Amino acid sequence: MAEELVISTGIKEEKYRTLFPQLKALCNGEPNRITNLANIAAAVKQTFDYFWVGFYLVEGNELVLAPFQGPIACTRIQKGKGVCGTAWMKNKTIVVKDVNTFPGHIACNSSSLSEIVVPIIKNDEIIGVFDLDDDKINTFDEIDKKYLNEICEWIGQII
Ligand code: SME
Repeated sequence: MAEELVISTGIKEEKYRTLFPQLKALCNGEPNRITNLANIAAAVKQTFDYFWVGFYLVEGNELVLAPFQGPIACTRIQKGKGVCGTAWMKNKTIVVKDVNTFPGHIACNSSSLSEIVVPIIKNDEIIGVFDLDDDKINTFDEIDKKYLNEICEWIGQII
């Protein structure tokens, strides 16, 4: 696959539709989990320019920081803590329009104002989460939820 990402200039939905097949092509034939997560984080960041895009992977009773794009971040999150730990505990995608309204939100960076966290499931078990933050409120909506759920379902199959 060429190292050139095509980014749709259309609406968000078109950006996801253009991105997803390229993610699949990027990871095709590559067995290394970190490699694939790194490129997925980069491609999503490049496409949408959200403030922070990255993964946390389950290790025991914690989520541990994995490949990401954006400013430095918290390294470990306990189950049930913050948006990430809550998405893990509840096995549910969580959209937070304004992080100040989410009790227990973990502010890795004070510029993050809205967030979406999507669990990644492999063989019926949550192995990590995909976390996207933005520096504006109300960034993430049902479109992000729909496509990021699809992307994470696919990630669970390839990593
Ligand atoms: N805000 C997250 C922590 C991870 S950072 O945003 C990268 C949370 O509340 O779980």
